[in-house]
Amino acid sequence: MSEQNQNIDEELGLPLPRRGNKGEVLSPVERIKTASDGLRGTLKESLTSQLTGALYEDDQSLIKFHGMYQQDDRDRREERTAKKLEWLFSYMIRLRLPGGFLTPEQWVALHEVAGKHSTGTIKITTRQTVQLHGILKSHIKPTISDFNLAKLDSIAACGDVNRNVTCSAHPNESEIHEEVFAFADKISVMALPKTRSYYEIWLDEEKLAEKTETEDDPLYQDRYLPRKFKIGIAIPPNNDVDVLTNDVGLIAVIENNKLIGFNIAAGGGLSSTHGNPNTYARLATVLGFVTVEQTLKAVYEVITTQRDYGNRSDRKLARLKYTIDRLTVEGLKEELEKRCGFKLAEIKPYRFTSRKDHYGWKKNHQGKWYFTLFLENGRVLDDELGAMKTALLEIAKTGKANFRFTGNQNVIIADVMEADKPAIEKLVKEFKLDEHTANAGALRKNAIACVAFNTCPLALAEAQRYLPTLIDKIEPLLAKHGLQDDEIILRMTGCPNGCGRSPAAEIGFVGTAYGQYNLHIGGDREGERLNTKYKDNLNEEEILTTLDELFEVYAKERNSGETFGDFSQRKWILN
Ligand code: HEM
Ligand code: SF4
Repeated sequence: MSEQNQNIDEELGLPLPRRGNKGEVLSPVERIKTASDGLRGTLKESLTSQLTGALYEDDQSLIKFHGMYQQDDRDRREERTAKKLEWLFSYMIRLRLPGGFLTPEQWVALHEVAGKHSTGTIKITTRQTVQLHGILKSHIKPTISDFNLAKLDSIAACGDVNRNVTCSAHPNESEIHEEVFAFADKISVMALPKTRSYYEIWLDEEKLAEKTETEDDPLYQDRYLPRKFKIGIAIPPNNDVDVLTNDVGLIAVIENNKLIGFNIAAGGGLSSTHGNPNTYARLATVLGFVTVEQTLKAVYEVITTQRDYGNRSDRKLARLKYTIDRLTVEGLKEELEKRCGFKLAEIKPYRFTSRKDHYGWKKNHQGKWYFTLFLENGRVLDDELGAMKTALLEIAKTGKANFRFTGNQNVIIADVMEADKPAIEKLVKEFKLDEHTANAGALRKNAIACVAFNTCPLALAEAQRYLPTLIDKIEPLLAKHGLQDDEIILRMTGCPNGCGRSPAAEIGFVGTAYGQYNLHIGGDREGERLNTKYKDNLNEEEILTTLDELFEVYAKERNSGETFGDFSQRKWILN
């Protein structure tokens, strides 16, 4: 075995439990992380190199920890290659927005940054944050700097760290929504990497000569986590954040109008790899109940357990769900309790009844109004369907509404005082946001697509650019069978990584090749059962024929109140 290929246990030389199976070798990314000097790598040099629009190879891994991905315009690869030009490299920047919240001033800043430095489209993601695409290398620093002026950052929005913490978005989910929501921020701050490299590289903060205590990182040490880590918080009965798809899911427990704690779940993760049977999507397992006071410690120690036991040799098997395969659920729980110094209590009863957004105007318990706006696939832009981007800018400019993003990629124009409602309502009407939301069909309103082409390097098939037209063709089939008002959850991703959470849909499409998708059915409506593959490699015609057949049987044979997902599971998956 070469020096580079040492056994992980020896390599780390730490007196902790097993780091991996004997003989496992560290994946190249592990070496990049530990050698990175607090995620600095050679990013400063990469940025100034005039020879290419790309970064040096190792820096392409490191930049993720700063909330960015290097991408290229895949639509233009052939043309650029023919002209002997390098691919058209650009960067995607994702913000860290715990619970998905922006003040009106921040929305105005985001709008301006998007126009100045990116393609202009503001993309609301499936994890309640915002992405801008198409940012050229020379624009990265100005983008981060402009965001910084608006008190926004992208630290740890990607990479092998805790990512954006999600939280049920609807302000009337509970009278203590704000209290639960505050946990998203607390967890995000607790799990931020301690390195100052973000400030040095992007914001020209001077590097301190001596490594100070502030850079000591007991949580991430110098190797960070084996893989990305996601945390979500749900407030039952709505599971709009798809809480069980996270590495750690917290389910708020409210008794007598008081937040008493959370049921804590672990081990969710949706990605799999075509042709690799060792990979699979998994929903988190609820482990037990923790009080409000115990919550941060419990979350922290799940992260440390994953840090110490996660697979660092095969990135495809590195998420917490696979660590649970090694430890078992009971083993994880025991380790967690040992690290916490307290036992988890019995799971408190909870019930999810939906995952949907509540569109239109609603009032919360404090008498504040909010309008949930349907945004197809989270894309905010002005196009032939409407001037969504201008509308939201005008609303933000009034300073009278905050912006909350939902896990379904929609925007809530929130916290509007009674006295301010007429002004906001006027803009909502003027830009036809109400009509746009009301006119979208039930299927479309409950659909999600990931980004896929043209920017995602992993995409095998289209998703957000294609789903709207596919829905145009599915809607008449639903109408034919009298199902047009059925709120079926349909999701599409351009590959099996599942960024649009397709494994957790009643109908899931997973791209296999350009124009082809596996069809999965049988997921439930509440997000507590994943779907199962039903057919492979369907093209559009086959998709439509298959759905037509399925809808016909469903319309005829379903029990009263039975959802498409439950019916499919009973009829076609279990049989
Ligand atoms: C191995 C697994 C995964 C990999 C390698 C991966 C990689 C990527 C990449 C490259 C992008 C950028 C696409 C673009 O904006 O052009 C992306 C976007 C995104 N991913 Fe993933 N992803 C994985 C799994 C997941 C899962 C399971 C989720 C959530 C459940 C998720 C959530 C997101 C979100 C929210 C975005 C932003 C765009 C959107 O809303 O679709 N990812 N991912
Ligand atoms: S699911 Fe696949 S294609 Fe879609 S954004 Fe994620 S990695 Fe890209």
